[in-house]
Amino acid sequence: MTGTAGITIHSYLDGSSLDSMAADVRAGLTRKGLKMLPPKYFYDDRGSELFDQITSLPEYYPTRCERAILNRRAPEIVEITGARELLELGSGMASKTRALLFAMAGAGSLERYLPMDVSELVVERCAEELVEMYPGLRVHGVVGDFEQHLEHVPAAQARLVAFLGGTIGNLYPDERAPFLRDIRGLMGDGGWLVLGTDLVKDPATLEAAYNDSAGVTAEFNRNVLHAINRELDADFDVDAFEHVAFWNELDSWIEMRLRVHGDQQVRIEGADLDIELADGEEIRTEISTKFTRERLEEELAGAGMELETFFTDDEAMFGLSLATLA
Ligand code: SAH
Ligand code: AVI
Repeated sequence: MTGTAGITIHSYLDGSSLDSMAADVRAGLTRKGLKMLPPKYFYDDRGSELFDQITSLPEYYPTRCERAILNRRAPEIVEITGARELLELGSGMASKTRALLFAMAGAGSLERYLPMDVSELVVERCAEELVEMYPGLRVHGVVGDFEQHLEHVPAAQARLVAFLGGTIGNLYPDERAPFLRDIRGLMGDGGWLVLGTDLVKDPATLEAAYNDSAGVTAEFNRNVLHAINRELDADFDVDAFEHVAFWNELDSWIEMRLRVHGDQQVRIEGADLDIELADGEEIRTEISTKFTRERLEEELAGAGMELETFFTDDEAMFGLSLATLA
């Protein structure tokens, strides 16, 4: 909890988080077939900073497009939903969310903002910035994993839940379905979901967004190994890993991997694990699913929600769904 007026922050990342990380790393690196690591471990302080840099890269269009939609549509969203409180999952620095908060303040309905993120740093920074900007706003920050700690989010009626940036696309289909049902529970009766998703488009544009010429995405990708080295006392030779990102048409997602150059033996003390990587072997570090409106409608319906309105930017690069209980 912080002492600044208007802000309370609860962290659910305790001693067991390292056990959780060790279990994830062990499961992902010992599985048969392609080795995998969960993307949530990108976001230590450096990873959050690198993601922030990604959002302003010329090739990375999603942030710009989603911001354009929100800037244009926020007043309409606030009018339709009548929201008095906003819960945001994977909130980051909430840079685009500010359009919603601004519209709520303009409508005289802004009471409480609940950012939830696995990065403590971003929750604290954004809470401080927002209470300064909106005196009287109460910020209830939740530092935790949205796949594990949603039960700690206070219940509310008729709340607006935001899940922006396309982060839902970083979940696998079998993770998305239960997650959307959990979100439905958080909305309360009469609540709303505003969901940002990247859309299917030509592969060249998609692949360029994940292979930027400045190499920031490559650094972001490799950062997961730095995080494991630090947190789990491992000895990955990070510089020996090449960033790989490609469009997987069959699964409709961009896939990020790390390809090792040279054989590498790695000791991960904190997971009590030794692994051997052969020259050229790859580890999948992230998927970023790209959607169509039809697929979104189907997945929302599967979770008991109805798509009320679907907004896009002028080029239909990115989609913002406004959904309510079916
Ligand atoms: N919503 C912001 C940030 C997107 S980046 C935007 O649209 O720009 C993804 C964010 O989700 C990061 O801030 C990251 O720390 C957070 N995140 C990723 N996995 C998470 C998890 N499992 N639980 C909570 N937060 C998570
Ligand atoms: C957070 N998430 C939606 C980003 C994405 O585009 O899938 C993460 C990212 N990975 C590489 N660049 C950005």
